[in-house]
Amino acid sequence: MPVIALGVSSSISVYKACEVLRGFQKAGWAVQPILTPNAARLVSPFLFSTLSGRRTIVETFDEDQEWSVAHVALAKEIDLLVVAPATANILAKFAHGVADDFLSTFYLAVRKPVLIAPAMNTAMWRHSQTCANVGRLRARGVEFVEPASGYLACGEEGEGRLADPALIVERGLEILRRGHSLSGRTVLITAGPTREYLDPIRYLSNRSSGRMGFALAAEAAARGARVILVCGPTPLDPPPGAELVRVVTAAEMAAAVRARFDDAEIVVMAAAVADFTFPAAAARKIKKSEMGESIALVPTVDILKEAGARKAGRYLVGFAAETEDLRRRALLKLKEKNLDLIVANDVSAEGIGFDSDFNKAVLLDTDGGEAETPVLSKSELSRIIWNHIESHAVPKS
Ligand SMILES: Cc1cc2nc3c(=O)[nH]c(=O)nc-3n(C[C@H](O)[C@H](O)[C@H](O)COP(=O)(O)O)c2cc1C
Repeated sequence: MPVIALGVSSSISVYKACEVLRGFQKAGWAVQPILTPNAARLVSPFLFSTLSGRRTIVETFDEDQEWSVAHVALAKEIDLLVVAPATANILAKFAHGVADDFLSTFYLAVRKPVLIAPAMNTAMWRHSQTCANVGRLRARGVEFVEPASGYLACGEEGEGRLADPALIVERGLEILRRGHSLSGRTVLITAGPTREYLDPIRYLSNRSSGRMGFALAAEAAARGARVILVCGPTPLDPPPGAELVRVVTAAEMAAAVRARFDDAEIVVMAAAVADFTFPAAAARKIKKSEMGESIALVPTVDILKEAGARKAGRYLVGFAAETEDLRRRALLKLKEKNLDLIVANDVSAEGIGFDSDFNKAVLLDTDGGEAETPVLSKSELSRIIWNHIESHAVPKS
């Protein structure tokens, strides 16, 4: 029987985790409860053992454990890790790789989808550190059921209440349903910016962070695809489960894409490739006095156009980042580059697009189809993009 690991941390909403457990059981899933030691102080692990029919795991160093290295063995057995409720503390530990109890150690060993339902006081949820932790986890492909607004146990009204358990179960089941929809397929994704060096110190680049490409790669991997991720320079952690090819310049990215193009049936170009580069990168720092008043630039290879020209039966997706006249320009690019789908986003809007966890896009395809999304996290947007690709790309024979 398929198994869900249910991580429970010490929020006052801990009692609602029982409803989450019940919901998954009703849908036919076995549930392995894991409580943090602090959660076990708020509620008895015995309750979760009784409901689940499995011994609740609390301690890492437990003489009675059935497996030799339980966190590794269990990580292989499960299909999904759901953490509900997740405290600010467990989010911080997951985001930074701290492994000082069973649940946080287990998280590091898990190579399956992870769904987190946070619950905390509004100030804690809105704290910049918590926001940064959530952003880090999203970039790694972790999915969230956002907390709801309402009356909080601390007596305040506001955002931070654990989402409705039925909604958490629904999201978990949705993840499991789409689990293998891309299995047996190879996808090639590009992400991040490129850097064009003038000399060892100076370069030309752009504001792309790689977040959108990483979210797309994480989603494709979660759906069972083999993912080849060609990625420009970014300080972010790439999602697990992708074959990572790191590049720096547009020329390197073009070569990496060319070399792997034949392997892929679906190609998604989310990288922001420099349009221009320097004729040559100097081996030593050029002195200001040697530079003159202007610097010559030459065009880079148009990777997307090249891909469009040799795409054959592949499904090709491009991105358009525009500051004005979004739809018209995106449709032009769709045709010019021989794409199947273009994801257009207005990068002039505050708080979304470049270097943000959020985005708002218009999906335009060759059949004249058009879908506009609200502001979404990049992982939510990547789910919409993959749903579209899956329903339009030629099914695997
Ligand atoms: C009664 C009570 C309720 C709490 N509720 C929350 C909560 O809803 N969210 C949260 O992030 N922390 C909450 N805390 C604080 C956490 O329990 C605390 O940060 C703890 O160290 C987290 O440990 P854990 O993440 O290992 O479970 C609460 C503490 C107490 C005593």
